[in-house]
Amino acid sequence: MCGIVGYVGNRDVIKVLIDGLVSLEYRGYDSAGIAVNDEGNIKIYKSIGKLINLKNLLQEKKSEIKNVKSGIGHIRWATHGGATEFNAHPHTCSCGKLVLVHNGIIENFKELKEKLIKEGCIFRSQTDTETIAHLFALEYGKTHDLKQAVQNGLKQLKGAYAICVMHKDEPDKIVATRKNAPLLIGLGENENFVASDIPAFIEYTKKAIYLDDGDIAVVTPTNIDFYDENDNLIKKKTEQLPWEPIALSKLGYKHFMLKEIHEQPDVIRNVLNGKLCSIDEPIVLNEVQIDNDKLKNLNRIEIIACGTSLHAAMVGKYIIEDFTGIAVEVEPSSEYIYRKTVTNDKTLVIGVSQSGETADTITAIRQAKEKGAHVLIITNRPDSSMARYADSLIPVSAGIEISVAATKSYTAQLLSFYLLAIKLAEIKNSLSLEYLKNLKHELIQIPVKLEEILNNKIEIQKCARKFANYKNFIFIARGINLATALEGALKLKEVSYINATGYAAGELKHGPIAMLDETMPVLSILIPGGITYDKILSNSEEAKARNARLIALTSAEDEHLKDIFENIIKIPPVPEILSPIIANVPCQLLAYYISEFLGKDVDQPRNLAKSVTVE
Ligand code: F6R
Repeated sequence: MCGIVGYVGNRDVIKVLIDGLVSLEYRGYDSAGIAVNDEGNIKIYKSIGKLINLKNLLQEKKSEIKNVKSGIGHIRWATHGGATEFNAHPHTCSCGKLVLVHNGIIENFKELKEKLIKEGCIFRSQTDTETIAHLFALEYGKTHDLKQAVQNGLKQLKGAYAICVMHKDEPDKIVATRKNAPLLIGLGENENFVASDIPAFIEYTKKAIYLDDGDIAVVTPTNIDFYDENDNLIKKKTEQLPWEPIALSKLGYKHFMLKEIHEQPDVIRNVLNGKLCSIDEPIVLNEVQIDNDKLKNLNRIEIIACGTSLHAAMVGKYIIEDFTGIAVEVEPSSEYIYRKTVTNDKTLVIGVSQSGETADTITAIRQAKEKGAHVLIITNRPDSSMARYADSLIPVSAGIEISVAATKSYTAQLLSFYLLAIKLAEIKNSLSLEYLKNLKHELIQIPVKLEEILNNKIEIQKCARKFANYKNFIFIARGINLATALEGALKLKEVSYINATGYAAGELKHGPIAMLDETMPVLSILIPGGITYDKILSNSEEAKARNARLIALTSAEDEHLKDIFENIIKIPPVPEILSPIIANVPCQLLAYYISEFLGKDVDQPRNLAKSVTVE
């Protein structure tokens, strides 16, 4: 959710912190702040709203900052307490000597706060984080050792956290720790970095050490010591990050969302690379660490995910059941975790998550693991917390996704499900060789078809302008593209704030049809040759009879469609079973162009954050 960056070294500390926060802005953007140790004085600067406000503040205050060698910064997505300057991080203890930033949620903060108030602590914010600052400061008073104070304080905290702390009396030092929230150290020459995610320091170093739950790192410019939760000095593995700073640039596109939509043909080529080598060979999916006998006899799969990843899961269910006959259940993680599930050691549980950090999905897969299930994670972040809990991992290889609205990661998740479903079908022998060959052949054609859509995007742009000022929008589809309709509606509401809804087309007449009139655009997804084509056409006619404004998303050449639909968004022909990968892209473009036309903040829509690390 929020973003953390910390730095100790000789660079321009303010610049490193602000640049780091800019690269983390996609994680939350209600307010931001930094704290620096300026010749032994802790100075804190905070602003509400976008980061530009903090940048402007620092520009104004430039003359009062003298010689800084260490600092911590934070960008916030409000949970406890609104987006106010008091609630923005960094937070300090009553005397202002200890300062910290925090991602996560402290569950027992109310009890702690009451206790700390009784001990004389003066609270200024409504946040759970401020409790940690007071707690650590009281511990510091007993030990006069920052690491020890953190170690002692942590024993009293319940919840999830990634924390960076500094103390006035221990200059050029950051103590960092985590539990159920990501935090890593970037290693430099006479300088070191701490961050909640790689983009914050990738410009300076590709060498990093990931903290594990309970670890404490004491970071100075020339040294880093790591301790486990029992205070033992430990050794940690240094990793070489496979990232290029260029991945964080818009490369000439107006927004990251548009850039990421355009990256999809290459993303698919990337995903298929090495996994689908030829139509005559079986799918290579070495990542799935379950022996073939177990996979062959598998009779139940559960897929858990949130948001866009949940829509990918719906397609996953459809194709796994279609290709293999294995029963698949799909459930939002936030529902799965609050009921008695029938998950057991014979269940394969698939968790799907772009970020690999979504709190609900993490809790769900932990519960599944406790019940003995094999947990397979499909994620875009093989370095994430979820990946660490996984028994098997399919990395979706979409590359970093900066825009808050998921686009290329969704396409890559879909592809991963197709590969998995085909692999399962090959193991179970449930599809004919001919069918499999044709499927693989069609999959290989998809990048070129997506390029065709992207080259003709001007038509979608025109359609977007025409419908941008409508207050409501309905997407309808049936069968495998119900997920496409839901995802199309989700994308539109996220980036344009239009009240968009996806329906199974057959459900329209069971209630939603009451809303239809000339103020309601209805987009129908129609795949010719598919089993639902005629039915969706009838459902569209029903909408037309109520004067709704109709748009078709189709590859059909049927002239008759012009009599029903006011706009026709053409897609290249594709077998219905693979059509979600193709049909989704025009929906992404439609949402993008409507948002852009309305002048919304496309990449950072209000109230959202890229990874949702609270339940
Ligand atoms: C939609 C979107 C969200 C995420 C959801 C799950 O564009 O980005 O709905 O899909 O928050 O996030 P992950 O996939 O990271 O678990």
